[in-house]
Amino acid sequence: MAKRALITGITGQDGSYLADHLLEQGYEVFGMVRRSSTETLGRVAHLQDRVEFLQADLLDQASLDRAVQDAAADEIYNLAAQSFVPTSWSQPSLTGEFTGLGVLRLLESVRKLDPRARFYQASSSEMFGKVREVPQNELTPFHPRSPYAVAKTFGHHITVNYRESYGLYAVSGILFNHESPRRGREFVTRKITDAVARIKLGLAGELRLGNLDAQRDWGYAGDYVRAMHLMLQQPEPGDFVIATGRTHSVREFLEIAFGHAGLKWEDHVVQDPRYMRPAEVDQLRGDAGKARRELGWEPTVSFEQLVTMMVDSDLALLGG
Ligand code: NAP
Ligand code: GDD
Repeated sequence: MAKRALITGITGQDGSYLADHLLEQGYEVFGMVRRSSTETLGRVAHLQDRVEFLQADLLDQASLDRAVQDAAADEIYNLAAQSFVPTSWSQPSLTGEFTGLGVLRLLESVRKLDPRARFYQASSSEMFGKVREVPQNELTPFHPRSPYAVAKTFGHHITVNYRESYGLYAVSGILFNHESPRRGREFVTRKITDAVARIKLGLAGELRLGNLDAQRDWGYAGDYVRAMHLMLQQPEPGDFVIATGRTHSVREFLEIAFGHAGLKWEDHVVQDPRYMRPAEVDQLRGDAGKARRELGWEPTVSFEQLVTMMVDSDLALLGG
């Protein structure tokens, strides 16, 4: 019989790639969606006949109970969150509710109603924040630098705690930044590639950004959802860092993205204090050695391939 998976956050970047991947593996996929007055299924439009959507919200325990019960899943992937770091300063309580307490609510539903399910929590390299060592691994202490990162740190610890308290098969994937043509346009990578396409096609002239010196370990989302699935196939539950091991600055991203379209970024980029953060995470670089050894996981897309793939996709979307 086909395995059953429930994905929260299926309408997001990772949810859509994970649904693609699990359907390819022969899973029956259930996707949790929250009520909205407008259509949010754009990223999974191609899967609408193959996924069963269940309406629930991370704020509403009864709705989570129902979704967990109805899906009766073998594997539950908790990808839903308020995931944009700047919004976590303007909406800190809501971010704490969605991104922190939401994890606890979902774990409670699993503990009560489907304790044999394997549970994946989408944790984040943002938890390392003001980093204590480079590169960061599963044992590196956390120093979160935003309400988002603080909420994710709660989500991480409560997942480990439910594993230790109740014997749930619950794991935390500490994923470094991962991007794709389906990335939200407010994140810096997609903001840049979308602007490159607009500037190239004469639809825009400038791009306003914040800190160009920040360094991130950027990988490809399609590679990272494979790691999520592998984490739930192990004999024992454990936590894993997923990263490429390489770091690049926003400036380097600009160089490749604009260069790929035959443009010079210095002619178009304007630094705008509005996009600077109250506290910054300056440099992230992950050590995914444990995932390589125990999961056999490797990234397949290089930084250059990722950037050019995103620029090409945005050019194609705008008809270029
Ligand atoms: P995303 O594109 O922002 O997607 C977030 C998803 O969460 C959307 O489907 C959204 O639904 C849903 N959601 C938000 N609030 C909800 C609520 N109250 N109830 C139910 N659903 C809710 O994020 P992503 O990039 O795919 O990331 C997936 C997860 O991994 C997130 O938890 C993120 O924090 C974490 N993460 C991401 C990265 C990365 O680099 N991408 C790295 C580490 C960790 P709507 O469509 O209705 O808004
Ligand atoms: N968004 C944005 N917009 N970021 C900018 C800008 C801008 O105009 N200018 C510079 N940056 C810098 C930010 O200051 C940050 O240092 C870096 O670009 C990356 O920003 P984002 O793309 O917004 O991602 P993030 O690293 O803050 O968070 C993402 O990765 C985390 C994993 O480390 C999100 O996906 C989080 O949900 C995820 O947990």
